Amino acid sequence: MTRMTRRILVTGACGQIGSELTPVLRARYGNDHVIATDIRPPETACLADQGPFEQLNVCDRETMERIIASYEIDTVYHMAAILSATGEERPSLAWDVNICGLMNVLEIARERQLHRVFCPSSIAVFGPETPRACAPQTTILQPTTMYGITKVAGELLGEYYVQRYGLDVRGVRYPGIVSSETPPGGGTTDYAVDIFYQALRTGSYSCFVREDTVLPMMYMPDCIKATIDLMDADFDSLEGHCNFNIAGMSFSAKQLADEIAKHIPGFVCTYEPDFRQAIADSWPRTIDDEAARSQWGWTPQYDLQSMTEDMLEKLGTRLSAE
Ligand SMILES: NC(=O)c1ccc[n+]([C@@H]2O[C@H](COP(=O)([O-])OP(=O)(O)OC[C@H]3O[C@@H](n4cnc5c(N)ncnc54)[C@H](O)[C@@H]3O)[C@@H](O)[C@H]2O)c1
Repeated sequence: MTRMTRRILVTGACGQIGSELTPVLRARYGNDHVIATDIRPPETACLADQGPFEQLNVCDRETMERIIASYEIDTVYHMAAILSATGEERPSLAWDVNICGLMNVLEIARERQLHRVFCPSSIAVFGPETPRACAPQTTILQPTTMYGITKVAGELLGEYYVQRYGLDVRGVRYPGIVSSETPPGGGTTDYAVDIFYQALRTGSYSCFVREDTVLPMMYMPDCIKATIDLMDADFDSLEGHCNFNIAGMSFSAKQLADEIAKHIPGFVCTYEPDFRQAIADSWPRTIDDEAARSQWGWTPQYDLQSMTEDMLEKLGTRLSAE
């Protein structure tokens, strides 16, 4: 089967990553070959205008099965999830969506012998026992959040389906993703996006983590590139499948504020840590992505300077048109 005949389902397509991944997949495989789905309707018209959109709660297996059958789906990008901060507010919802939703995807993929499934993980799989610097891919995974617990289980489930059923399941541990299109959906690294909106709108920002909080981050174009590159990789070159560390950049909240201030003179950032500080403190500051680099050629393109410049330009244009 050639690349152009793929029929793709994206769950959680209205979210921060799905809303940018879907148009890239549509440009690659054809608009009608990429079915966007989410529990909520799209906020902007383009997701539903460019190609098929179906409302889908990933916990509703029957509807998922019907959509996968009727569109003859062979590949799933499973982006629907409850993220870390929302997950701490609603742990049982996080379990249901992140685990039952994933099991529905994996079971349907197994039964229908789908070609390939992408299931993202997160740096939230790490916990206080993990080395804070250069966290290895294979290390202690004892997260303290419900979100992290579901992501560890998700990685293990994905690998189980690879080993037990020969299903092609892949995934990376995304770091905090910075982007200008769709606001993030309730994660601990959301401040690294909010700060750009507030800097442009008001010239000041009250940050919910301490200024010395350093976390692994990545700009959206690199996030999309990692997703596509891993999905394109030759299965036989992969030693692991669902747990790839991918590093982009790491910076403190203050370094980010200082970088923004270079472009917006007078920008003021204050720091008022809330419950998300404890989550941030449980995650590593930097991660080791040697396996992704050597097994499927992962290389990021953006650093703090180039990301800040591009974010301010793109978001500035969007906000001034509003
Ligand atoms: N954005 C990040 O910084 C980041 C970092 C690490 C990992 N991830 C992972 O990447 C994936 C995508 O994350 P995102 O940032 O786009 O999240 P997001 O919160 O922006 O989007 C998730 C989408 O899932 C949808 N959703 C929630 N419950 C659903 C349900 N029951 N059925 C169907 N859809 C449902 C939401 O409406 C939302 O549009 C997730 O697996 C997330 O854990 C994201």
